[in-house]
Amino acid sequence: MKPFIDLKTQYLNIKDEIMSCINEILESSHYILGENVKKLEDEIKEYLGVNEAVGVASGTDALHLAIKALNIGEGDEVITTPFTFFATVEAILYVGAKPVFVDIDEKTYNIDPEKIEEKITPHTKAIIPVHIFGCPADMEKIKAIANKYGLRVIEDAAQAFGARIGNKRIGSLGDIGCFSFYPSKNLGCFGDGGMIVTNDFSLAEKIRMLRNHGSPGRYVHDTVGLNSRLDEIQAGILRIKMKYIENYNKLRRKKASLYTKYLSEVIKTPYEPDGFYHVYHLYSIRSSMRDKIKESLQKHGIPAVVYYPIPMHLQRALQFLGYKEGDLPIAESVSREILSLPIYPELPDEEVFEISQIVLRCLQKSYS
Ligand SMILES: Cc1ncc(COP(=O)(O)O)c(C=O)c1O
Repeated sequence: MKPFIDLKTQYLNIKDEIMSCINEILESSHYILGENVKKLEDEIKEYLGVNEAVGVASGTDALHLAIKALNIGEGDEVITTPFTFFATVEAILYVGAKPVFVDIDEKTYNIDPEKIEEKITPHTKAIIPVHIFGCPADMEKIKAIANKYGLRVIEDAAQAFGARIGNKRIGSLGDIGCFSFYPSKNLGCFGDGGMIVTNDFSLAEKIRMLRNHGSPGRYVHDTVGLNSRLDEIQAGILRIKMKYIENYNKLRRKKASLYTKYLSEVIKTPYEPDGFYHVYHLYSIRSSMRDKIKESLQKHGIPAVVYYPIPMHLQRALQFLGYKEGDLPIAESVSREILSLPIYPELPDEEVFEISQIVLRCLQKSYS
């Protein structure tokens, strides 16, 4: 079976830089929250056009700390999408708040802003849009609603490093932006890592304290925080990959446009709204024949993955929230039909062609 994401080729292409960076860090014997974390935070601030960036231990922690820093807790409600990775919801539950799900847009698979207002109650404190698969959510409409009701917006940008709306980077548009550097993400390190960005200095100060046991200085604790520090090796690796991220995203877009050229006449391919810059963390097609296509690709040694087969409101762990099948029909139908094809910067164009041919042949057979 070919890899779904070929992390090894990417590593081999930058191996010398990575090895010398790791070596230097090992010899410095400064392993946590050091110079590389500080420099990475500065580089990410500049790239995203934000005032503050705080490196943390994972994307899940980034969301958890962001929600905690906004004093959201017991008795509060947070609106989000049911079509995401479980971590978005876990982060809301960690602080004792209640996740409230709003159905998604049929084309982008992101939260549908038209359906947000009807779910707002006096307990609603924040909205967490997720830029799913690397496609920006409709931040203009979401922010207008948030402003109207005095809500905070936390962007779950775990899958969308470098995505844009116009010339504004994702992560810089809400009150707080949260990134994951999990290895398979479009900007990934070689372990776990995450980043929180904001323009609000006092929020950033609070998050800096929260990520390190609520401590403003050694052995002084002003609040109860977490151990969620980014380590130097991950930060060093990310600083190297930051030099290539624009190119990586461009290459992802190129592979995506090839897939779309081959497939869009016969199957639903990803939608990129006008003026949006999708970074194709994942390239997902949608078809009622999804399982057949997946099987056929697998027979040819091509892995295809279902992100996500069960929407959040139907997850067993969240049964206590009281949702049932039919409550969020678009998310449910997308979960039944979605299928992600291999995409990564180094994927050869010929493979995009071959994979597309297998999909086309499978559809022809199914229709004939
Ligand atoms: C949408 C989304 N949110 C949050 C996370 C959590 O990030 P991490 O795995 O770095 O904790 C992920 C990735 O796994 C994700 O895809």
